[in-house]
Amino acid sequence: MTEHADVRATRAAYDTVAVDYEALLRDELAAKPYDRGMLQVFAELVQASGDGDGEVADLGCGSGRVTAHLASLGLDAFGVDLSPGMVEVARTRHPGLLFEEGSMLALDLPDASLAGVVAWYSIIHTPAERRPALFAEFARVLRPGGWLLLAFQVGDEVVPVRHAYGHDVQLDAFRLPPDAVRAEFEAAGFSEHARLLREPGDREKTPQAYVIARRASLI
Ligand SMILES: C[S@@+](CC[C@H](N)C(=O)[O-])C[C@H]1O[C@@H](n2cnc3c(N)ncnc32)[C@H](O)[C@@H]1O
Repeated sequence: MTEHADVRATRAAYDTVAVDYEALLRDELAAKPYDRGMLQVFAELVQASGDGDGEVADLGCGSGRVTAHLASLGLDAFGVDLSPGMVEVARTRHPGLLFEEGSMLALDLPDASLAGVVAWYSIIHTPAERRPALFAEFARVLRPGGWLLLAFQVGDEVVPVRHAYGHDVQLDAFRLPPDAVRAEFEAAGFSEHARLLREPGDREKTPQAYVIARRASLI
């Protein structure tokens, strides 16, 4: 199947910025207590459900900083990213963790194999017409009752990104309305469990959304 131009652009852009992205954002979570709070809640929900084990995929993991944070919370976390440059940086920075190259739209994972999926600022490059397929893929790989955590910038516009982390790039980022995102993931079989909206912090231009949703249980 021919790859969409936006997917190629996203991969190329993140390959270009990978090393500087890692260096600039390495310690960012330390200054973001609300973000860490939602990651902590997500970790506790995963650990409290099922038999308390099960893998968690950090999809669009980039440099692996969130994957490593999830692992530090006791989760069996691994990362998947479109960009080979990002995957290489993640492997170098976090040699004890598993990182694979792949697309969130077609994961090389069995059905119902995961206890949790995290997409931390990674659904933001997928155009609206393909987001239903993205959430359907998340639902496919999560076991019934599995947990989903999303983070994204709030808004309703496309931002053409032409310079990032000290490099010229060409990609689009979508700011997203939380209610529209909810309708999309609920259509894929999730129900929203919690939502945090916080005001922009340093270097952020819009409010930020953190959403926890659960895949429908069989019972
Ligand atoms: C803004 S970065 C966030 C990275 C990481 N989650 C973090 O918070 O540091 C977005 C990441 O999503 C990845 N990405 C975007 N679309 C993807 C897709 N369809 N499949 C896999 N990864 C994707 C990009 O390559 C990039 O590394």
